[in-house]
Amino acid sequence: MRADLDGTLCRLSIKWTDAQFRYRGNTRYFTQGSIRPTVAAGLVRISKPGPNDVFYDPFCGSGTIPEERALFPARKILASDYKREVIWTAEQNCEGIAIVFQSDARQTPSRSESIDCIVTNPPWNRQIAVEDLRHLYAAFLAEAKRILKPNGKLWVLTDCHEELTMAARENGLYRNAVCELSLHGLHLKVYEIRKTSP
Ligand SMILES: C[S@@+](CC[C@H](N)C(=O)[O-])C[C@H]1O[C@@H](n2cnc3c(N)ncnc32)[C@H](O)[C@@H]1O
Repeated sequence: MRADLDGTLCRLSIKWTDAQFRYRGNTRYFTQGSIRPTVAAGLVRISKPGPNDVFYDPFCGSGTIPEERALFPARKILASDYKREVIWTAEQNCEGIAIVFQSDARQTPSRSESIDCIVTNPPWNRQIAVEDLRHLYAAFLAEAKRILKPNGKLWVLTDCHEELTMAARENGLYRNAVCELSLHGLHLKVYEIRKTSP
């Protein structure tokens, strides 16, 4: 059991599972900034995975989110990251379940309006160093808007609330915070982002 104090708020959390379950029996590799498989599983469930979806994680890191997405049927699962060494790890973790490739999330090889669902965890404060998060978020959301189908959806886990909100506004996207969680003392939110108003 754990207690997180946040001003006058106290969040109590209980671990229901053992480490063997949370880390998937230590059968996978992790990279800097990897989220736990159980957190990735929660994100996938929130995104309501559809059996005909073309799914994409453009900041895949070690591939935790695509790996958990593969537990549900999908038409295609794509995963990319701009770091070569990270891609190697994702390839090991996602062998036979996702198409893994190297790409900058701001300029992907995906065709316009070809993706049904993006679930991702871009760099956030204190986790992965990035020079200019504001511009990264703005350029990534512009690219996501291009590659998502008109009714496609994007789910983002981050603690960069201002950067994400401004990037969504700049790109004329609708964003809605659907839940909040505390990870390593940081207060993250899961955002649902759409091209059209809900
Ligand atoms: C928070 S980590 C993702 C962790 C991943 N969800 C996992 O569980 O392993 C963010 C990733 O974004 C990648 N990244 C940073 N800037 C990028 C960019 N412009 N394009 C693509 N990937 C980028 C980093 O290499 C890092 O692996």
